[in-house]
Amino acid sequence: MSNEYILQMKNVVKQYPGVLALDKVDLDLRKAEVFALIGENGAGKSTLMNILSGAINRDSGDILIDGNEIPLFTKPSEQMEAGIAIIYQELNYLEEMTIAENLFMGCVPVKGFLKQVDYKKMKRDSQELLASFDLSYHPFTLVKTLTIAEKQIIEIIRAVSKDIKVLIMDEPTSSLNDVETRQLFGFIESLKKKGVSVIYISHKLDEVFTIADRVQVMRDGKKVDVLDVKSTSHSELVKLMVGRTITDMYPKEGIKIGEEVLRVENMSCHITKDVSFSVKKGEILGLFGLVGSGRVEAVEGLLGINSIHAGKIFIEGEEIKIANPIEAKKKGIAYIPSDRKEEGLVLMHSVKDNLTVTRVDEIGKGFKIDSKKEKEYCETWINKLRIKTPSPFVSIESLSGGNQQKVVIAKWLLTNPKVLIMNDPTRGIDVGAKVEIYKVMEELCKEGISIIVVSSELPETVGITDRMVIFSDGQVVGEFDRSEYDQNKILHLAVGGESNDKKHSCEN
Ligand SMILES: Nc1ncnc2c1ncn2[C@@H]1O[C@H](COP(=O)(O)OP(=O)(O)OP(=O)(O)O)[C@@H](O)[C@H]1O
Ligand SMILES: [Mg+2]
Repeated sequence: MSNEYILQMKNVVKQYPGVLALDKVDLDLRKAEVFALIGENGAGKSTLMNILSGAINRDSGDILIDGNEIPLFTKPSEQMEAGIAIIYQELNYLEEMTIAENLFMGCVPVKGFLKQVDYKKMKRDSQELLASFDLSYHPFTLVKTLTIAEKQIIEIIRAVSKDIKVLIMDEPTSSLNDVETRQLFGFIESLKKKGVSVIYISHKLDEVFTIADRVQVMRDGKKVDVLDVKSTSHSELVKLMVGRTITDMYPKEGIKIGEEVLRVENMSCHITKDVSFSVKKGEILGLFGLVGSGRVEAVEGLLGINSIHAGKIFIEGEEIKIANPIEAKKKGIAYIPSDRKEEGLVLMHSVKDNLTVTRVDEIGKGFKIDSKKEKEYCETWINKLRIKTPSPFVSIESLSGGNQQKVVIAKWLLTNPKVLIMNDPTRGIDVGAKVEIYKVMEELCKEGISIIVVSSELPETVGITDRMVIFSDGQVVGEFDRSEYDQNKILHLAVGGESNDKKHSCEN
């Protein structure tokens, strides 16, 4: 094996029932490089990395780590010994424990005959470890008090404290805000300097161009190409990923906007103070703000998830009270949450059951199930959103992360709501399917539905909305019509800067 590579995967094959997840895939990783792995939902990225980490076994193919062959059947602990660590999107930290306890999980230092925990040593060692990454947290800080980004960094430190050669990160920034993402990138740079190679999975191409040296594109379980990031472009990568050129990322049509449908007036709840916003028929309203700005809490207030201390809600001019999301659904407000696992899906159930659960009343008339209608719904939405599944009957757990998210979206679209609220609708979704989802949103608006998009992704919010309300520190700090969009101005407001343009100030 050439010395150039710290890791080589050759002809790796993984077959699942009905899906060839990996079809003779190769991957060569250089020492101290950041290597991006991209591809559409279901392309096989996570499967390839789970094989590398030992979480699942491959059917065939070779893996060499630093010249050593890794046998076909291995356990995660053996891969760890070989120098591989993986950070999953769902982190593994223990909230109620301290940073030090998390760092030394499984290998707590002990002392004396009774083998009591040696807190002094644990404190000293943690401090040293944290300091080697220029971090000054107190080792006995409870992990639950940290931000997601900080927790992620603690998890990475735990991984790299074990002398690793390759760190795998599967969509690490999907719950991070811009500042935290930058913090993570700084951290990745410092790992690179220490000689660690990083494999980085992301659907955000901007990140690939910021952080990666090389990028490997996968499609339908196959390796398509490997490119130097410096000598490729955004559009080339998109074309390689989806197999076609996407000319218009945000297919926005001029749709006639009608009367006001929903209005929130002077609402205070949780961290939000005195917020007002409204959405009209056929309109897409964006609630934009950084993580923690109150945009999600406002929506949760509107849906009855957070109790409201003050304020009123009107639907079509009539004041209403909403105690919980079920009541909201009855009043015509559908909510697509961002976290598919916690709020959106029953993982043991089939794609079909998850997809049609919002229409059981119609499909399950009397004792008979209208399987024709059920089939029609499944076919329509599996095609429309390009949900990659061998059939509607497989358990949703077996779908790739992004395809699970598409099922959540489809199931709420089936409810024919008056107002559709989408929280971070395209999180974890590949570029091709994003455009499909934007098109569906436009179609819904044409049919007279109003949409509220809650997002921390500015280009997307700018691309698809007709109007935008900006949140910062629990308050509405600005409102813009599409014709007035100015990304710099919006970001400035969102990070807590003053607007010098009175026209956009909402305090009146
Ligand atoms: N446990 C499983 N059982 C059956 N099929 C599976 C299983 N895990 C993955 N698959 C299938 O293998 C294929 C590759 O999935 P994988 O999770 O690797 O995709 P991915 O590239 O990570 O996609 P995403 O961007 O959506 O996370 C998909 O078609 C998926 O449905
Ligand atoms: Mg994945």
